[in-house]
Amino acid sequence: MNVDYLRVSVTDRCNLRCIYCNPLGDHGLRERAGILSFDEIHRVVRLCAECGIRKVRLTGGEPLMCRNIADLVRRLAAVRGLEDLSLTTNGVFLGSMAAQLKAAGLKRVNISLDAVDRQCYQQTTGFDLLPQVLDGLHKGLEVGLTPVRLNCVVMRDHNLSQVIPLAEMALHLPVSVRFIEYCPTSRVTRRADDYVPSAEVRRIIESHWGQLQSVAMPNASGPAVYFTTANAAGTIGFISGRSSVFCDNCSRLRLSSDGKIKPCLHADRCYDVRKLLRGGAGDETIRKLIQRILREKSCYTKITSTAGDFLMQSIGG
Ligand code: GTP
Ligand code: 5AD
Ligand code: SF4
Repeated sequence: MNVDYLRVSVTDRCNLRCIYCNPLGDHGLRERAGILSFDEIHRVVRLCAECGIRKVRLTGGEPLMCRNIADLVRRLAAVRGLEDLSLTTNGVFLGSMAAQLKAAGLKRVNISLDAVDRQCYQQTTGFDLLPQVLDGLHKGLEVGLTPVRLNCVVMRDHNLSQVIPLAEMALHLPVSVRFIEYCPTSRVTRRADDYVPSAEVRRIIESHWGQLQSVAMPNASGPAVYFTTANAAGTIGFISGRSSVFCDNCSRLRLSSDGKIKPCLHADRCYDVRKLLRGGAGDETIRKLIQRILREKSCYTKITSTAGDFLMQSIGG
């Protein structure tokens, strides 16, 4: 598999408290000094692009918590060799920032949306902010941050009732509604048995719509598989990180907010690029490290070790 995709967590902070990610709030986070600066992120991305990375996704925490994120987008959009620059957000601040992000060179957004019922949204994320997220979604579509993808982490005791109303958004809007299998990451998130396999979510949708038809998504580069149904404006996707293994097809590296390159979300192996950046290393030294990680990654065929507790928000999903 050609490893050409870098996910960059720009901050470990978040304004929401999603039950599957950050239910206790911003605890156990790094001092700000430990977080990579925009200059440092730009340098790592430039060097990664020189080593063959073609797609970059900004994540968090919540990347739009960085109020000057459009400046970083503008700088990354100018990095030679990059073909795709996207961002994953909870959508709360997107309404007010979509136009400037588009103007800065952002191509597309993925938005977390776990419920369309306002009360269920509040119970899942800790805040009554559903109208703001829906406004963000519509602004994203309006300014052309497309294709827009919606991410719903399905939890049995929590938002299973939202599967159909969320799926119905794909009937009316040109969006991909993606159902994600919950991945337990730490003791503070939900019980592992809250997880709902994609096959079950698919059965629920098919019991309403009939059989879904598989669709090939142009430039879909992730673990999602996509389906559609007659007369739908959008598509349905499934990300099945627990019931299936997609390591063979994994094209991603991750840069955590505190400057570690992780070749795999689930392996505890990581490389401290911040130490090199702050220790005065030259471009060639950092490029050599990136090339070594890329070589190592191309040998991964299945997860070989499992990370212990980790904070999803400092790695960025
Ligand atoms: P696209 O480029 O639009 O396909 O983005 P994406 O789906 O890779 O990114 P997004 O940030 O929207 O992530 C959606 C979900 O997919 C999150 O729950 C991620 O944790 C999960 N995910 C993304 N990449 C991987 C991966 O390589 N392995 C696993 N297990 N999960 C992943
Ligand atoms: N399991 C699965 N997906 C998760 N996300 C965050 N935490 C988890 C988890 N524990 C997803 C959210 C967000 C994306 C970046 O990661 O849907 O949109
Ligand atoms: Fe914040 Fe995203 Fe984690 Fe929710 S899933 S708490 S929005 S980082």
